[in-house]
Amino acid sequence: MRVGVIGAGFVGSALVQLLSDPTRHHAIVDAATAPLELVGVAVRDVSKPRPGVDSRLLTADVEGLIASDLDVLVEVVGGIEPSRGYITSALRRGVSVVTANKALMAESGTELAQLAHKHGADLFYEASVGGAIPILRALRISLAGERITRVMGIVNGTTNFILTKMTNDGSDYERALAEAQALGYAEADPRADVEGFDAAAKVQILSSLAFGTSLCGEEIAREGITGIRSVDVEFARRSGYVIKLLGVAERVGPSGVSRRAHPAMVPLDHPLASVAGATNAVFVEGVRSGPLMWLGQGAGGEPTATAVLGDVLDAARNRVSGRHDAPFSGDPSLFAVEVGELKSVFYLSVDVIDQPGVLAEVAGVFGRHDVSIQSMEQSGYGDEARLSFLTHIALSSDVSATVEELTSLKSVDSVGACLRVIDRGGA
Ligand code: NDP
Ligand code: HSE
Repeated sequence: MRVGVIGAGFVGSALVQLLSDPTRHHAIVDAATAPLELVGVAVRDVSKPRPGVDSRLLTADVEGLIASDLDVLVEVVGGIEPSRGYITSALRRGVSVVTANKALMAESGTELAQLAHKHGADLFYEASVGGAIPILRALRISLAGERITRVMGIVNGTTNFILTKMTNDGSDYERALAEAQALGYAEADPRADVEGFDAAAKVQILSSLAFGTSLCGEEIAREGITGIRSVDVEFARRSGYVIKLLGVAERVGPSGVSRRAHPAMVPLDHPLASVAGATNAVFVEGVRSGPLMWLGQGAGGEPTATAVLGDVLDAARNRVSGRHDAPFSGDPSLFAVEVGELKSVFYLSVDVIDQPGVLAEVAGVFGRHDVSIQSMEQSGYGDEARLSFLTHIALSSDVSATVEELTSLKSVDSVGACLRVIDRGGA
């Protein structure tokens, strides 16, 4: 089996080292049912030192590598283009493709899967969600017959690393992000992580396998962690919560599906609350299976490379036996439930001018939008005060309207975080 790799960054370098490990040679041949030959590794800059990667394998000629009679191409470059072009070119030649690229799968996964099928090739993307955690294979194969009701989890290692550092070490946001980048967790453009794009793409992929929603082509609700301040983290801690960026896909009624990625306050005794650092965790609830949970390294070169290698071996085995996996067609009866239609308890932090009557004015805005206040904490600093509210269960669209009106008040300096508070059974 001739294997080519595009990309030798954090994931690609770790994969090349796994493929070249002599102690794993027998196991790899056994799993692939054929010996694997690493034909070449395409990168942008062939002169860059890459420990553990044989420099004779390096090339800048990606199309040349794709055209070199490959059986399996691994794309671990990232981004939409030129990755999509390379994958398309390989699939048109009937070469099976393994990718870790969630952004691309959430944008063009459906057409790429159809192209793979048309040309008798596989398109596998296990590493695109949850790093080392084999969650896609579990949904695609082991739970294929189950009626899944919800998939919820921590699916972005970078943001979980940052939030953990802010919570446990009092680290500031910028320093924690720089550390996550140095450890190889972050995307090339870390806005994909901190603004929730990465988690949203993963929710889209998870939902397509869990429910049969479309893999791509639809925007899903997304909020990042850039608005979270240390005061919010501190309020959460004092109130018995921890802030986590969650990815959620769940059935609403018989045919509705809600998909979203947003930060939330998680009770400290919830299993997700203790998931720290770059660790990811995914809960799946099925009608008959009950709750299931996967936990493990969700980012980083080596953990992610193990998932990529698993796909390479699966694709190789399929090729040896002359078959390929057919893509799922999806369930056309499903419709998307807008996030505004969902109910939750909310936490809101509002910075106001500290003057008589301001609290009543702010509270009046909540009341006008049918949002009932459960508790309020005021902390003063100079001429200003910070008001931290927990609401009773409220409609998300009512809370958004409350935030909008609060923002327009002269007595309000700013509305900070607006976070959902999850209970033990929901989000
Ligand atoms: P890196 O940025 O570390 O590596 C990207 C690699 O791609 C580099 O070797 C770069 O070459 C090469 N490259 C970039 N552009 C081109 C091009 N036009 N032609 C050929 N090679 C190119 O990324 P990661 O390894 O972190 O991530 C790779 C993929 O894996 C992404 O899709 C990411 O989302 C995904 N992923 C990453 C995880 C992680 O924890 N890092 C976890 C799960 C998925 P050069 O070295 O010469 O610059
Ligand atoms: N940047 C991603 C993360 C990599 O932090 O989770 C894993 O997909």
